[in-house]
Amino acid sequence: MKRLFNPESVAIIGASRAAGKIGNSIICNMIASGYKGNIYPINKHGGEICNLPVYKSILDVEKDIDLATIVVPFKYVFDSVKACAQKKVKFLSIITSGFSEVGKTVEEQEIVKFANDHGMRILGPNIFGIYSASASMNATFGPADIKPGGVAIITQSGALGIAMIGKTQMENIGLASIVSVGNKSDLDESDLIEYMIKDDQTKVIFMYMEGVKNGERLISVLKKATRIKPIIVIKSGRSKRGAMAAASHTGSLAGADEVFSDIMKQCGVHRAHSIQQALDWCKYLTGSVAPRGENTVIITNGGGVGVLATDACEEHGIHLFDDIEVMRTAFSKSVPSFGSVGNPIDITGGASMDDYEKCIIDAFNHPSIHSIICLGCETSILNGKTLGPTIRKIHDNYHSIKPIVYSFVGGKDIENEMDYLKADGVPIYSDLEQAVGCLGISYENYRNQMVLKDDDSQNSSIDAIVDIKKINKIIGSAKKDKRNFLLADEGQELMKAAGVPMPKSVVVSSLKEAVSQSGNIGFPVVMKIVSKDILHKSDAGGVILDLKNKNEVIDAYEAILFNCKKYNPRAKIKGIEIAEMLKPGIETIIGGRYDNSFGPVIMFGQGGIYVEVIRDISFRSITYNRFEIAGMIKEMNTYPLLLGVRGESQKDMNGIIDVIIKVGIILSSCPEITDIEINPLLAYDEDDGVRAVDVRILIK
Ligand code: ACO
Repeated sequence: MKRLFNPESVAIIGASRAAGKIGNSIICNMIASGYKGNIYPINKHGGEICNLPVYKSILDVEKDIDLATIVVPFKYVFDSVKACAQKKVKFLSIITSGFSEVGKTVEEQEIVKFANDHGMRILGPNIFGIYSASASMNATFGPADIKPGGVAIITQSGALGIAMIGKTQMENIGLASIVSVGNKSDLDESDLIEYMIKDDQTKVIFMYMEGVKNGERLISVLKKATRIKPIIVIKSGRSKRGAMAAASHTGSLAGADEVFSDIMKQCGVHRAHSIQQALDWCKYLTGSVAPRGENTVIITNGGGVGVLATDACEEHGIHLFDDIEVMRTAFSKSVPSFGSVGNPIDITGGASMDDYEKCIIDAFNHPSIHSIICLGCETSILNGKTLGPTIRKIHDNYHSIKPIVYSFVGGKDIENEMDYLKADGVPIYSDLEQAVGCLGISYENYRNQMVLKDDDSQNSSIDAIVDIKKINKIIGSAKKDKRNFLLADEGQELMKAAGVPMPKSVVVSSLKEAVSQSGNIGFPVVMKIVSKDILHKSDAGGVILDLKNKNEVIDAYEAILFNCKKYNPRAKIKGIEIAEMLKPGIETIIGGRYDNSFGPVIMFGQGGIYVEVIRDISFRSITYNRFEIAGMIKEMNTYPLLLGVRGESQKDMNGIIDVIIKVGIILSSCPEITDIEINPLLAYDEDDGVRAVDVRILIK
């Protein structure tokens, strides 16, 4: 990959003299960016372009070529690739459109196979090219002017990528690289990130994605990468309509958005919701030091902005330092007696920039304070003239000590001054939400690193004994029966084979058996119909709960048969299940399914009949360990119920984790299973464990 980002020579096949053609722009950009290697324009007409000799064929070039940018019409691309193979080119950047994104998948795959067979890797097709700061190489047809810096951008959308070059220029954000991946026919985000985490110039990685291909590999690369560098992602297709547009646009199916979001969280990736937000985060993370502790102070001359910032801090998970004694000592000299040393620290409307300076320096010097939010409203003393010099001085002397963000509200003079400061790299924003958001992402990254360190030090094995052979036998018999689901008793058998705790139960086929088995199980019991023709048992009157004695069992047996025959006279009835009636517990849900983008994915959340309405659920790829599963459980809004409220004891968290692990093992070991759902899984106190009440299993 180093050769892709630092090629010693680049050929442009389809180079053109005609201004305005893509093949001309790329040559101009290569020259303007100061690329030091050899540039070889290739065009069947020969001649000269920008004083460079043009070769009629790549085979006429004497020296080796590391990268060939192909910018000829679709019908000539394969021939060009073949010529590159003959020339032993290492990387191809195929700009040309008209491949899998418009349905020409076979043609695309044919080219990739040929290229790979001949030792070449492909970027694209359907891309705008690649810029790499370390090689001073702008092999794109985007803007010529790119500021080198620490942000690496990988973009699936070409047009948006080109626009982002302009936007980063405007925002004074330096790029380590920008790579357009287009159809991702060969090289994808994972390949590029693997290089970027080792590249010294790259400080932050930003990806714009439309769909995920090879998600299982992406997860493993991201998990490794976020331990080393922050990664920010924007994924379009959050709405159902957006997902459809993305799918048709890129030729790759966008995964369900909730799953994507949760898996990015699992990998330690920060998901931004707008380009502006992502670029703000990139700029802040490349220009600021990381926090070394959780204590933040707000310094302000106005109560209103202080309160707004306090709200924003809560939203972004920023901890406001609240040791009033320490605050009093730290700021006794810099806060006037009529101000407030609480947090927010209010140096009052009479504060000058000198007063700000003293207070900010006190915060920088205090070891218990780890980061600062500096806010202000324009006054006659705090104005455009006084703002700039002080903030610039503080930034120059202190910005590498602790993280700080600034936000000032005022008129034109203040706004202009803030623009100058921003251009000089000061993290200053007219919107305090933006300022707090940037510090928030820095904390998210800090905590990610902490969690990952904890994670590494945990014993987080996910071993469990699951009888896969028996499970496959159960699936086999359902398949023989031409069903794509398991019956209740089969589901229970399968869970038993995995060692998932179930209520005691048995399927009976006569009234006499029902009476004797209910006695064996112990009252109260539950009775349910078992029939492949009746899936919604309650709707059919096929479930009766809380049967306390023999007589109630006799009545229920007859009632269930009567109801079900009436509901579906042709239903083939296998029997009636008699099960232990469980005492109430906390209802949770564990689901598992094969996700088209990410492979086996597990869901956990609040269970019961209101699952769909409450939607207190989260997802993880089964590349987890016990520690990550515990993190998923803690994410639920209803997590406090599992901790125990109003004097209740904590529920059996390890029992829940064990079942999640087992469901994951079943899903990954039995590819015939597409969906597993345990709802509810009742969680009891630690001594009583958990019980899977109802199980639904779908097979291919
Ligand atoms: N070998 C060498 N040179 C060749 C060959 C060949 N086999 N075939 C053609 N050429 C030359 C042509 O003579 C021409 O040069 P000239 O101007 O000196 O005559 C040059 O290569 C280009 O060929 P044209 O036929 O003029 O093609 P054109 O430049 O119009 O289009 C392109 C080619 C740009 C690759 C087009 O087919 C295409 O795919 N455009 C879309 C590109 C795109 O949008 N990519 C996604 C980017 S991301 C985004 O969305 C912004």
